[in-house]
Amino acid sequence: MKQSAFYVLLLAILCIACSKQGSAVTAPPTAPPPVMDTVLYKSLPFKMGASINVNLLKNNTAYSAVVTKEFNSVTPENAMKMGALQPQQNVFNWADADYLVNFAATNGKRVHGHTLNWYNSLPAWVNTFSGDSAAWEQLLKTHIQTVVTHFKGKVSSWDVVNEAFNDDGSIRNSIWVQHLGTDYIARCFQYARQADSAVLLFYNDYGQEYSAAKRNAIYAMVSSFKTRGIPVDGVGLQFHLTYTQTDANIAAAIASAVQTGLKVHIAELDIRLNSDKTKSVLTPELAAQQAARYKTVVKAFASIPAQQQYGITTWNVSDADSWIPAWQGAPDWPLPFDANYKRKPAYGAIIEGSK
Ligand code: G3I
Repeated sequence: MKQSAFYVLLLAILCIACSKQGSAVTAPPTAPPPVMDTVLYKSLPFKMGASINVNLLKNNTAYSAVVTKEFNSVTPENAMKMGALQPQQNVFNWADADYLVNFAATNGKRVHGHTLNWYNSLPAWVNTFSGDSAAWEQLLKTHIQTVVTHFKGKVSSWDVVNEAFNDDGSIRNSIWVQHLGTDYIARCFQYARQADSAVLLFYNDYGQEYSAAKRNAIYAMVSSFKTRGIPVDGVGLQFHLTYTQTDANIAAAIASAVQTGLKVHIAELDIRLNSDKTKSVLTPELAAQQAARYKTVVKAFASIPAQQQYGITTWNVSDADSWIPAWQGAPDWPLPFDANYKRKPAYGAIIEGSK
């Protein structure tokens, strides 16, 4: 071998050795993402859902591809709220909600309806409604029964009442309580059941991980419903979490819901990283810490009795779609897909946690 050829060969060997050593040093702190043919919902023993922005489902092909491939349950993020469905009294607009329901039927996805009653996202006419309590009762009943009837056989379950409690466990002084008293909550469940004898009825709320008072109040209400014969089938834990939330709080919230004996839905999961508003980029370290928290949630959920596992739903699909940055007033990366719909470490952690 000529001397120059020898040096070229030596250099090549050294380069290969260096690159191997380099990749070992820079290996990511978590397991590599799963191979590309993984399908999230097929890797899990329970339903995996996302809340859906219907505009994105219609107009963003990356979004609709991920929803179609990775999830087998969908919740409308906004399209079934009262403000969207009944913009004027007795004038119903089904277009976006029907689009989602048809998408779900075509693609074999379960639909979880959200939400028949909430204090927020009401149409303007409700906020200015001036009827007596009988007129308010009629308004409530008409909305619930018209919506449940419209989607009968197409929607598997409903968040019947959303966020009726304050963090201290007292009942929120909403427009509904002001006009109808606190027992309107029970009547919402009765009205829904009258309209559809088969659909599953959920109570849904946030903060059950950080407020024992709130989860105790929810548990007490559900227990009293059972005693009184008020229909209720499940409890939704929203789980809009921060990545510093403790394992103990997450476990306590799930345990409290399990104690009801009803189905448990982790209904709006996202895990934010920037509530202190100090971060401007998602580092690999933060992504790994977030993944660990997703794993904690899934592990706790996977350990409850199978018949109570209604599923886990993330609140939208990718970091580009999340409600968190606008609400928080700072960037964030709360979901298992990044803004380009690529899988983050959280994706693999969800699968790991279920094992
Ligand atoms: O569609 C209109 C658009 O036409 C208008 O130009 C624009 C101007 O503000 O508003 C748009 O509507 C917004 C809508 O999201 C759709 O993007 C509303 O203002 C905005 O209030 C609404 O926010 C939603 C919020 O609920 C209130 O309904 C969020 O997307 C949605 O993620 C959030 O979801 C809630 C759950 O329902 C209950 N649990 C908490 C969760 C997060 O807040």
